[in-house]
Formats: sequence, C-alpha cells, structure tokens
Amino acid sequence: MMTKKTALVAACCRSNGIGKNGTLPWRLKSEMDFFTRITSTVLDSAPGLAGDEQVKKNAVIMGVRTYMSIPPSFRPLKHRVNVVLSRTITEAPAGVDFLFRSFDEAIKTLSEMSNIDQLYVIGGSEVYKESIARPDCDLIFLTKIDADFDCDRFFPPIDHDQYEDITDEKLLPKYRHIIDKYDIPLDVQTENGLSFRYHLYKRK
Ligand SMILES: NC(=O)c1ccc[n+]([C@@H]2O[C@H](COP(=O)([O-])OP(=O)(O)OC[C@H]3O[C@@H](n4cnc5c(N)ncnc54)[C@H](OP(=O)(O)O)[C@@H]3O)[C@@H](O)[C@H]2O)c1
Repeated sequence: MMTKKTALVAACCRSNGIGKNGTLPWRLKSEMDFFTRITSTVLDSAPGLAGDEQVKKNAVIMGVRTYMSIPPSFRPLKHRVNVVLSRTITEAPAGVDFLFRSFDEAIKTLSEMSNIDQLYVIGGSEVYKESIARPDCDLIFLTKIDADFDCDRFFPPIDHDQYEDITDEKLLPKYRHIIDKYDIPLDVQTENGLSFRYHLYKRK
C-alpha cells in the first residue's frame, strides 16, 4: 500500500510566527477563505458536486491544541475529515473524526481510506516541524504576512536543499500547471492594512 503525500498549510509573519496565547495573532478574512478553499477543494472528484455531496473529502491533520484553538462554532472544519494528533488524550474531542497517537499511524490509516483525497497538515508548530521533515511532505502552502507580530509559536525553517518556492518568478514557467491547479493568486494581497503573499513550496 502506497502512503499518501501530505501538504502543509500555514500563515506566518516576518519572524515566522504563527500563533500567540493559543490563537492567531492576526485577523485576515481573505487569508482564512484561501485556507478554507485549499483544504476543502477535492481535486479528484466528480465535477459539479460540492460540499457534502462530494464522494471524497480531504483530511485536515492537526495537533490537539490547534483543534481546540478553533472557535467552537467553526469546529469541526466543515466538508473536511478532522484528524487530531495527541499522545495523552484517549477520547477524541467533540467533532473530531479520528484521533491518532502518531503521524505514522495517521498517514498509514488515512492512506488506506479510498474516500479521502488530499492530506493537509494544518499545524501547530510541533506538527509542522515533524511533517516538514518527512519525505511524504510534498507541498507547503505558506502565506507570508509582511508585518511583525508578537508570537509564541513559530513555523519551522524551510530547508532550501529540499524544497523550492515555485511561486518564485524564476520557477513559475516550469510549475505554472501546479499554480493553476490550486488557483493561487500571485500578486500582493492587502487586508486590514496588512500586505501578504501566497507562496507554494514543492519538494525538489
Ligand atoms: N498561523 C497558522 O497558520 C497556524 C496554524 C495552526 C495553528 N496556529 C497556532 O498555533 C498554536 C497552536 O499550536 P501549538 O504548536 O501550540 O500546538 P499543536 O501543534 O496544535 O498541538 C500540540 C499537541 O499535539 C500533539 N502532538 C503533536 N505532534 C504529535 C505527534 N507527532 N503525535 C501525537 N501527538 C502529537 C501533542 O498533544 P499531547 O500533548 O496531548 O500529546 C502536542 O502537545 C495556536 O496559537 C494556533 O492559533 C497557527
């Protein structure tokens, strides 16, 4: 059985910060909409089907603290299979579809499920750190916010020997098909007086 590839999805500020006091340091609705679209869109589905009618769903894999950081009215994340990692809790929090004690266990089980399409790793810091170093991590969707925020959680450094930014002007011609597949806006975005840009890194 082949295990599935994973994709990370994150937003960070200049210091690579991703969180503070168990929550997001910023509020960017359009960035949140981008996250929802990327993680919810099933690429391998019958055309014309949306939401709960889809035969397949993507899975979102997250640490238990990230799940609990989602406002209760927004969790579980709809139209996606919600997967939580924890070594201590024994019962899945309300709304969670699967609870796993390790990344290996999660990837192995989810890879065997034919009704699951993409596996998206959505944080937090510890989970990103482990997954970025795994050979099954193929893509990193990283929104870079051009501002400084006080943070206590950080995105791990990206090893440029392993990953390349395919939204970089020089690489774009070669990887246009991937950018188009995910419909990633490449121009600088602005909201709430903040500038940010969507980047996509791919394993070389
Ligand atoms: N900006 C962004 O894109 C973004 C995205 C997500 C989250 N965040 C922010 O990040 C913060 C939350 O993240 P966090 O780093 O504090 O925590 P987290 O990574 O969400 O959760 C950490 C917990 O997950 C469990 N865990 C992690 N790796 C595991 C593994 N390999 N196997 C089994 N269990 C594992 C452990 O739970 P146990 O201790 O129970 O074993 C660990 O204590 C919040 O501030 C949130 O807003 C930001």
